[in-house]
Amino acid sequence: ASLQEVGYTIRPLRRSDYSTGYLDCLRVLTTVGEPSQTAFNERYDFMASRNDTYYILVICDSASKVVGTGAVLVERKFIHNMGMVGHIEDIAVDKNQQGKKLGLRIIQALDYVAEKVGCYKCILDCSEANEGFYVKCGFKRAGLEMAHYY
Ligand code: ACO
Repeated sequence: ASLQEVGYTIRPLRRSDYSTGYLDCLRVLTTVGEPSQTAFNERYDFMASRNDTYYILVICDSASKVVGTGAVLVERKFIHNMGMVGHIEDIAVDKNQQGKKLGLRIIQALDYVAEKVGCYKCILDCSEANEGFYVKCGFKRAGLEMAHYY
C-alpha cells in the first residue's frame, strides 16, 4: 500500500512546521535544543531562499503531526564536469512509528529528488547500527567518516 493509502502524507517542510511536531521528531536523532519560533523562522527562511540546495521532507500522520523527516543538500562541484552531489542528512522517524517503512519512503523520496535535480550520487554518514537500514534503501558502504568537533 502507498503511504497515502495508509493515512500518511509526504510533503516539503513548511514554516508552520514549528507547531506540528517537526522539532520533536528530530529528537530521536540527536540534541535539538528549544529554538524560539523566531529562530526557527529565520533558519527556515534562509533555507527557503536557497530552495535549489535545501530539500527537507516530512511525513505527517492522519492528524497532521510530523512523524518522519529527512533532508538532502545539493552540493555544487567543479569536479565531475560541474557535478552535483546529494548529501542525505537528519533522517528521523518517531519511535512509535519506526518499522513501518516510513524511513524507507523518506530515503526513496530524497534519492528521487537528488537524481531529478542532476546529482551523480547521494552520500550520507551513519552509525554501524543503521548500516542495515541504508543497505535496504540501496546504499552501500563507501569510505570512512572523519570529524573535527569545535
Ligand atoms: N538495522 C538493520 N535494518 C534496519 C534498521 C537497522 N537499524 N532499521 C530499519 N531496518 C530495516 C527494516 O527492518 C526494514 O527492512 P524490511 O524491508 O526487510 O522490513 C527496512 O530497513 C526499512 O525500515 P523502515 O521501517 O523504513 O525504518 P524506520 O522507518 O524505522 O526508519 C530509521 C529507520 C530512520 C533509522 C529510524 O529507526 C530512526 O529514526 N532512528 C533514530 C534516528 C536515526 O538513527 N536516524 C538515522 C541517522 S543517519 C542520517 O541521518 C544520515
